[in-house]
Amino acid sequence: MLDKSNRQINYLRLSITDNCNLRCQYCLPENSNNFSKLSNLLSSDEIEKIVKAFSLIGIKKIRITGGEPLVRKDFPEILKKIDKIEGIEKIAITTNGFNLLENLEEFKKNGLDRINISLDSLNEKKYNEITRGGNFNKIFETIKKAVETNFDRVRLNVVIMKGVNDDEILDFVNLTKNLNIGVRFIELMPIGEGKKFISMKNSEILSFIESHYNLEKNCNEITDGPASYYKVSGFLGEIGFISPLSNGFCDKCNRIRVTSDGFLKLCLHYNEGIDLSAHLKHNISVEDLAKLIEEAIYNKKPKEHKMNSTDIVENIETKGMNKIGG
Ligand code: 5AD
Ligand code: SF4
Repeated sequence: MLDKSNRQINYLRLSITDNCNLRCQYCLPENSNNFSKLSNLLSSDEIEKIVKAFSLIGIKKIRITGGEPLVRKDFPEILKKIDKIEGIEKIAITTNGFNLLENLEEFKKNGLDRINISLDSLNEKKYNEITRGGNFNKIFETIKKAVETNFDRVRLNVVIMKGVNDDEILDFVNLTKNLNIGVRFIELMPIGEGKKFISMKNSEILSFIESHYNLEKNCNEITDGPASYYKVSGFLGEIGFISPLSNGFCDKCNRIRVTSDGFLKLCLHYNEGIDLSAHLKHNISVEDLAKLIEEAIYNKKPKEHKMNSTDIVENIETKGMNKIGG
């Protein structure tokens, strides 16, 4: 569907839990345990209904996010239900990869097309520190196996923080030499725990890489999103940049979000939207739900709008990234 600014909205990011089995330093406090009760999360039936409604208004691609989506025991059921819904062409997941290795093949069979794995260090010790508990060797094995499993595509999400992992930028680029993956640098947003770290602008990362490598803009890549992609000549994989802060992308926005507690979130940076879970509790039909969603999406923030880190505005989002789903 088109919104008021004539943007084609065809992509839903659906957070299915705010819980996580890691505690990345820029995302969650060390002792955080303040997650939604299971009863406040959308059930797999409610998720199915929501996705059906979204498919009626023209959503074609779903990304399942968290928190960590694979902490939900019923993830396989959710995946199968979404896969059966007519009109949904691509199902993707953003995961920390913790529980993935054993399940890659089954998920592929059940309709998962694309995987993004969050990985902020290639150093075993540092990875363990940043995530407060993650096992680098297992994640790395998972990444290699995911590439072999022939998913549509496998990408890494990397958040570079000054003084933490900014010394690893070239190591990440070098990963794309022999591995057919996309390494994507995502600017740290000053949300929740993220405020405690110093982000590095993607423009800075790009010029640093360019001082070592010859980069070609990767035009083959159909970017149905805000990332811009490059390739080092001769390398198998690619690198991408998602720059929410230094390069507002509201004019190209194609997406809409549902948080883990069932809130339809119109824009990443604002808390505006509608509570779908209240309507689901009253047993709303798929068609009526689709109408509600359509009206809300029509009124997304206009494309002229540009968010940057110094904006102080009303209705600013205060939820942590684990509730929003990135
Ligand atoms: N800024 C940018 N990305 C973040 N993530 C978590 N917190 C932030 C933040 N403040 C990312 C993780 C992961 C995804 C779930 O969200 O790195 O890729
Ligand atoms: Fe979990 Fe992802 Fe947050 Fe790390 S960034 S704590 S893996 S939700």
